[in-house]
Amino acid sequence: MSVSQEQRERVMTQAQGAVALEIAFIGIANGLLSQLDRLRQATADQLAAAAGADAGYVTRWCDAAYAFGYLSESEGQFQLTELGRAFRPEVPGTLMSFAVQSVLSAHMAERAATYMKTGERPGEKVLAERESILPWFGAMLENNFGALFEQQILPQIAAFAELEARQGVAVDLGCGNGWYLRRLAAHFPHIRGIGLDGFAENVRQAQERAAAAGFGARLHFQVGDIYNYTVPEQVDLIAMTRALHHVWDQREKVFTTLRDSLKPTGMAVIWEPCWPRQRADLAQPGRRMMAFQNLTEHVQGNHFLNPDEIADAFRQAGMVPSVYLFANGNEAVVVGRNSG
Ligand SMILES: C[S@@+](CC[C@H](N)C(=O)[O-])C[C@H]1O[C@@H](n2cnc3c(N)ncnc32)[C@H](O)[C@@H]1O
Repeated sequence: MSVSQEQRERVMTQAQGAVALEIAFIGIANGLLSQLDRLRQATADQLAAAAGADAGYVTRWCDAAYAFGYLSESEGQFQLTELGRAFRPEVPGTLMSFAVQSVLSAHMAERAATYMKTGERPGEKVLAERESILPWFGAMLENNFGALFEQQILPQIAAFAELEARQGVAVDLGCGNGWYLRRLAAHFPHIRGIGLDGFAENVRQAQERAAAAGFGARLHFQVGDIYNYTVPEQVDLIAMTRALHHVWDQREKVFTTLRDSLKPTGMAVIWEPCWPRQRADLAQPGRRMMAFQNLTEHVQGNHFLNPDEIADAFRQAGMVPSVYLFANGNEAVVVGRNSG
């Protein structure tokens, strides 16, 4: 069998796509895109000085970013192209997450390749192994899912309006950078929120962003472990967004905590990627990434869940589940109530 020209060209295009995102990531992680936008135009040395980065590295990065169409250049002065501007983390709808995801995927692929022989599954700590990626993790998730939450999930699921009507307290377990509670607080002026996460960097960002948005008095964030979490008094809503699959190995304990931490009228709102029942569904272009991410979840000791499994876990805890699907069935929200 020989490799066809068509196969070679297709894979070369894919390889260039991956490298393009890697170059964008370097610019994002070092603030180069944002700084160049602020300066409008700059030499590599000026950009390095503005970003507080090494001029040698920045010069090489400028060449690469120019080659891949993120920068234009005239007489040694670089400017962002429209494409380069679209990767700035601060612009609405930024392309930043694709770049972060690409580099994170490369890291996790390397880990999966390393551990495949022994079966070792080192857990969540692999996510923190790359110091340049970790600070972007929360922003990437916010960027990927914030709009879906606000535009579709929040209006469709009654639990949130009920929370506001009760002027209630919401807890977010595995809160990341706190975007979920921030969005709830922005929509519902009478709610208060408590976020918990195991990564100190996430909690630091969550506190900082909540304060910057003016919610410092209504939202509190703390470092902690979901397995040991106890509420000071029963709350109205507990959210877990892309967090349940991290603690699924002790689901009985987690669902008991959910049930006992909620008021009799309380609701748990679990949002997870919707792992399909049929393998053939994974080959759909919209689901491919989920299949790869599930391999990287395996490295962390986790796996994705089908919403029926989540609904069963609610029933076993004596709660009443309702399943909602979003994003062409790729995202599942399962609401569990203490009383039907
Ligand atoms: C995929 S992230 C989702 C973060 C956030 N909910 C979001 O949607 O952006 C999963 C989060 O759960 C947190 N987490 C996982 N296991 C945890 C545990 N046992 N205790 C506390 N946090 C945990 C991780 O630190 C991580 O921030």
